[in-house]
Amino acid sequence: MIKISNLSKSFSGQTVLNHLNLDIQKGEVVALIGSSGAGKSTFLRSLNYLETPDSGTIQIDNFKVDFSQISQEEILALRRKLSMVFQQFNLFERRTALDNVKEGLVVVKKLSDEEATKIAKKELAKVGLSDRENHYPRHLSGGQKQRVALARALAMKPDVLLLDEPTSALDPELVGEVEKSIADAAKSGQTMILVSHDMSFVAQVADKVLFLDKGKIIESGTPDEIINHPKEERTKEFFASYKRTYI
Ligand SMILES: Nc1ncnc2c1ncn2[C@@H]1O[C@H](COP(=O)(O)OP(=O)(O)OP(=O)(O)O)[C@@H](O)[C@H]1O
Ligand SMILES: [Mg+2]
Repeated sequence: MIKISNLSKSFSGQTVLNHLNLDIQKGEVVALIGSSGAGKSTFLRSLNYLETPDSGTIQIDNFKVDFSQISQEEILALRRKLSMVFQQFNLFERRTALDNVKEGLVVVKKLSDEEATKIAKKELAKVGLSDRENHYPRHLSGGQKQRVALARALAMKPDVLLLDEPTSALDPELVGEVEKSIADAAKSGQTMILVSHDMSFVAQVADKVLFLDKGKIIESGTPDEIINHPKEERTKEFFASYKRTYI
């Protein structure tokens, strides 16, 4: 079980995360939605300390850290437990797909080359890229690059996978292959927090949806409750403008 309590963050006086609380069960897929600037990326980035929260705690099973007094060791331990997939893939351009997936296994988990290779090949196979192991990112499509990034994150066996708009930089025809790989990981029991503007994917994959507005969770519930029957005025407005933009 993952428990996030009282998470706050401001940037030069502007409150971006306002005392957020969230409990996540093992195997649960939580989708975080909200307008641009609501604080979704800041939330994910704060969890693995890519941003420095002003206050708050995160507990993952028996491991608990207080962000206001986190040590270097705890930061490393936290990053081993949380893997992130970014909108822009963030692959090492000078390494093959296989080496990109192996990197964390060798450097962070200190596995032997042989063990790391075995795991990396297995993870690339799961996202359908066995035939691209030796390709460099520049020779991969956006969808393939994002599946390598997903394989790299999953290879670390994270307690929670953090996905920040993983398909929004892709050409529309490449979205499906990445969504399928994410849905496969969800089916296999991977706990995740997904930030997405793609409501049909959110409805398909999420167990719980949170609507974030100005750094606060305004409303949470099942995808059907939040997407089809929002109760709060702000959530209703969000979907009204969402429909004008996307549908
Ligand atoms: N490094 C930073 N320095 C200053 N302000 C920042 C920084 N990062 C984010 N912000 C501000 O914090 C707020 C929340 O940004 P964030 O990127 O978390 O929003 P978001 O919900 O992910 O939006 P989007 O849907 O556009 O990705 C915004 O007002 C943004 O300008
Ligand atoms: Mg964002």
